[in-house]
Amino acid sequence: QKGGFAHFMLKEIHEQPQVAREVINLLNNSADVQSILDQLATARHIYFIGCGTSYHACLAGAVYFGQLAKKAVTPVLATQFIPQYLPAVNQEDVGIFVSQSGETKDVLTALQEAQNRGMTCFSLANVIGSTLTRGTSACLPLGCGYEISVPATKTFTNQVITFLYLATRLGGQDLRQLDRLPELMSQTITMTDPQVKALVPKINSWNDLYCLGYGATYSMALEGALKLKEITYAHCEGMLSTEFKHGPLSAVLKDFPILFVAGPEDVPLIVSGINEVTCRGGRAIAIGEADQRLNANATDVITIPSSNAAFASLLSVIPLQLLSYYMSVDRGYDPDFPRNLSKTLTVD
Ligand code: F6R
Repeated sequence: QKGGFAHFMLKEIHEQPQVAREVINLLNNSADVQSILDQLATARHIYFIGCGTSYHACLAGAVYFGQLAKKAVTPVLATQFIPQYLPAVNQEDVGIFVSQSGETKDVLTALQEAQNRGMTCFSLANVIGSTLTRGTSACLPLGCGYEISVPATKTFTNQVITFLYLATRLGGQDLRQLDRLPELMSQTITMTDPQVKALVPKINSWNDLYCLGYGATYSMALEGALKLKEITYAHCEGMLSTEFKHGPLSAVLKDFPILFVAGPEDVPLIVSGINEVTCRGGRAIAIGEADQRLNANATDVITIPSSNAAFASLLSVIPLQLLSYYMSVDRGYDPDFPRNLSKTLTVD
């Protein structure tokens, strides 16, 4: 059942290239994509709404929409949508509700309230036939098959790929380049697995970490931090790299581990953050494409294959998934079934 892997989580991490291919095929052949794009193009305001990992995909999607389609999108946590945005919503607005399970109560409550105000609602979900997919005017399926492990991995990357696809198409850019993604994801797994394993003994005694990103990699830093918290039980804070100097920098001690997810276009900015940490004795771990500037400044480097800024952000979450997995196993935990959590949250 685990296909020769020790855990479902590791199996599902390795399934990512294959399900990425599947979702790109589904999107290319979907009858709904064009009408969703038409409504996004004319919407007064667009919201991407989800919880936990699915919210992080919304954050990544909003960056892709800004950069590739020149469209402003508000990514928002489902529960915060109600007090913050609902009073301003009307029938000219469009929301995309994102959920692996399609049963998360917080998402369904936001959907109900948004529909009461006349908003056009679409969904992005893995479980087709779920309450969410039955309640929206159109649903884009994630095509991942069952995700058994409680920490979401392959459904996250397919959510991000779906947003990347929509932004690419809405922006009138070349869609064929997306066909390279599955192979790049596969190379990322092969390339980063040994690098991540070598890092684990250097940082796994810490119960406090930071994971920083900027622009498109900000969402990946938050997602990496969530995975680490979820299955290692360590405290890992994800934040915007440029905010670190506005306070948290004071926490840096000798060897204190800080992960920097470096997009290829943001290396100079990330390097200045790295130097603020290393000059105080902290351990700066850079994740990014091969780059002399990262090698020269970071304490450790995890190298991903070279591609472009949009792809690099997506690829960089893979070593973070692997890192949380190996750290969890090294601590003697079962990453598939972390304590206190269940796969689907059907309560308020
Ligand atoms: C983290 C994780 C959770 C879910 C969240 C939303 O690995 O799985 O944070 O992402 O509970 O669940 P869905 O996507 O089913 O709405």
